[in-house]
Amino acid sequence: MANTLKSGLLSRGKNMVEFEEEMAAYLGKKHALFTGNGTQAQMLLLRSLGIGEGDEVILPTYVCDKVWKGIEAVGAQPVLCDVDSKGCMTADEISRKITPNTKAIILVHIFGINSWSDGLAQLNIPIIEDICQSFGSLYADQKTGTFTSYAFTSFHGTKAMGLGEGGMLFTDDTALFERIIQLKSELGFITSGTDIIAALGVSQLQRYDEGLMRRKEIAASYFEKIDSVLNSWIAEIRDRSMFFRYVLKSQGEWEHIRESYLEYGVHVRKGVDSLLHRQYGFSDVEFPNATQLFEQAVSIPILPQLTDEQVNSIIEITHDLKEKRIL
Ligand SMILES: Cc1ncc(COP(=O)(O)O)c(C=O)c1O
Repeated sequence: MANTLKSGLLSRGKNMVEFEEEMAAYLGKKHALFTGNGTQAQMLLLRSLGIGEGDEVILPTYVCDKVWKGIEAVGAQPVLCDVDSKGCMTADEISRKITPNTKAIILVHIFGINSWSDGLAQLNIPIIEDICQSFGSLYADQKTGTFTSYAFTSFHGTKAMGLGEGGMLFTDDTALFERIIQLKSELGFITSGTDIIAALGVSQLQRYDEGLMRRKEIAASYFEKIDSVLNSWIAEIRDRSMFFRYVLKSQGEWEHIRESYLEYGVHVRKGVDSLLHRQYGFSDVEFPNATQLFEQAVSIPILPQLTDEQVNSIIEITHDLKEKRIL
């Protein structure tokens, strides 16, 4: 870090180049570009694929608003899709939303869950993998972000590789990458990450897999010791998640659950704060699976920094709230 400050190259210095190269190598991608945030990386990928006015881009309803906004920002129309019981869009659901104007699909690997499934490749529409919540998630020997040629991630402070701010896009397509670099300079408003953040990123990447292992360890304790009904979502995705979130399924009343955990000093969250279809005026009837998952989701803490003692205490509190029929 001191070397970065001394070098005077705080905008595009050697750490940025190193960070891009190491991130690309980690994923096994040919090219990476460090951007100001994940949304800008998404916009650059869409624009470089020629997507704009009059085009439609499919995304899940079960994701944060930034993905919708990033599509609108290139002038295209976001089209919402339901997810399956795992929280993932499937080829069947996506097919129902395809029109002659569909030019891309944003496949969100939500909560760390690898969303890739059979049939997606046959849709013959470019699929951009959103790995903001699932960087490093490995399923059947393949990492998220490597199923198609286009992927992006976020380094927002809330993410598994949280650097405060920043994002990165990845592609294997050299011609497209050259277009991306050119577009970035033409558009002018897309920012880059900084060399200081890149230096942090390089050092976090060295320890990143340790954090993933710790997440798996905590998830294994939760899975073994928490009630199986509460664990029914996890039972479906256990082998395909890096556990960015550990989400219980509960029939209880959300505010009551949140406040009850808080009485013990534990912060639980919904995972996503609202469903996009509700936000943009569509009915729950069209999105039954996402609506059910959202209503029942209780995301309990799974940060790698948690001690065994804290993990056991969360398990006990969860047990207690289940006994009291709050969960
Ligand atoms: C799934 C998902 N996609 C996209 C984004 C947008 O990333 P950023 O906040 O870096 O623009 C985020 C994070 O906020 C996210 O969680």
